[in-house]
Amino acid sequence: LQKMERLFLLCSGLLVTTVTSQPNVCSRPELSGNIEMSGIQRFSSPGEELALSCKEGYTPVSGPRKIVCTMNGVWTSTKLKCIPKQCPHPELVTNGEVFYEDTVYQSTINYTCHEGYMMTGESSAVCQSSGTWSSPAPECIPVPCGLAPVPLYGMVIYDKVVRGNTANYGLTATYHCNAPYAVVGNPVAECTAIYESSKQMCFFTVVTCPPPESIERGYLSNNEKREFFYEEKVKHGCESPYVLEGNMEVVCQNNGRWSEKPSCKAPCSVNVQRARILHNGKKIWMENFEPNRVLHLDIVSVYCMNKAMKCGYAVPTQCIDGTLNIPECFEEPSALEYTLKPNSLPSEIDQC
Ligand SMILES: *[C@@H]1O[C@H](CO)[C@@H](O)[C@H](O)[C@H]1NC(C)=O
Repeated sequence: LQKMERLFLLCSGLLVTTVTSQPNVCSRPELSGNIEMSGIQRFSSPGEELALSCKEGYTPVSGPRKIVCTMNGVWTSTKLKCIPKQCPHPELVTNGEVFYEDTVYQSTINYTCHEGYMMTGESSAVCQSSGTWSSPAPECIPVPCGLAPVPLYGMVIYDKVVRGNTANYGLTATYHCNAPYAVVGNPVAECTAIYESSKQMCFFTVVTCPPPESIERGYLSNNEKREFFYEEKVKHGCESPYVLEGNMEVVCQNNGRWSEKPSCKAPCSVNVQRARILHNGKKIWMENFEPNRVLHLDIVSVYCMNKAMKCGYAVPTQCIDGTLNIPECFEEPSALEYTLKPNSLPSEIDQC
């Protein structure tokens, strides 16, 4: 048999190095699927049994737990199945997150805490062979901030009542300074992460603005050529007939600049000659409109003719910073018409 086997193997062209092993002897089986066996011997004789078991962390679910070496020198087959042990599903963590892919033997859970919370306990756990997690779920507790330092010439106002010497995540502190001191930078400090609020300092300096400059066509309530302190105010005015638009009062801000200045807007003249206009509820002939001037934002109406209906109608137009557009429907009569037939002008006939 040995000769024949060797011949067969040579004929089949295989490179043979292990054919010296005796027939009818089983060599150590190669096991897969997390199965292991007892004993360390390399060869077994026919009739010998091997006890199989599952590796640590795996549980047998079916199939015989023994294999036998047969007369042919091969082991009987086994349908033994080993499945990994299950750990319980992890609990949720308040104010944190739980990351895991599986809950079987050797799976890992990672825990994180939301911003502003810190962890007490282990940040990860491994499913052990015993079917339990290596550590319990951690807790996420709010990070305490120290209280915001109180400024010498001002105060700190918290958005919530503070007890003791710590502030909780999310608490905001707003700095107020007594003029002429001003908060430089962000006046709001927030407890966002560990000790963040004490890092966010509030710097105090005396803030001044340069002497205010009057606006074009305007004047100032205070002409002192000095530096003005934070929160000092000055009023702007406009020379007549200019009209002030914006805030009359400007204030020295904590950035050392004045708040937005107002501006002085120009009056308009009504560029029609032979007509009667409507201004401030009164109908006025242009030759009596003295001076020919309406103020910024004033409304003036001119009269147009509805030729089909033979009636007149007033069309309003507004003075915007020196510009008063005359509506296109307005037609200026000839001097002759204006002098001889004033009663036929659109301002005088029946109104539509
Ligand atoms: C847990 O964290 C480790 C280390 O950062 C990482 O390698 C692993 O992928 C994470 N596992 C999960 C399920 O997020």
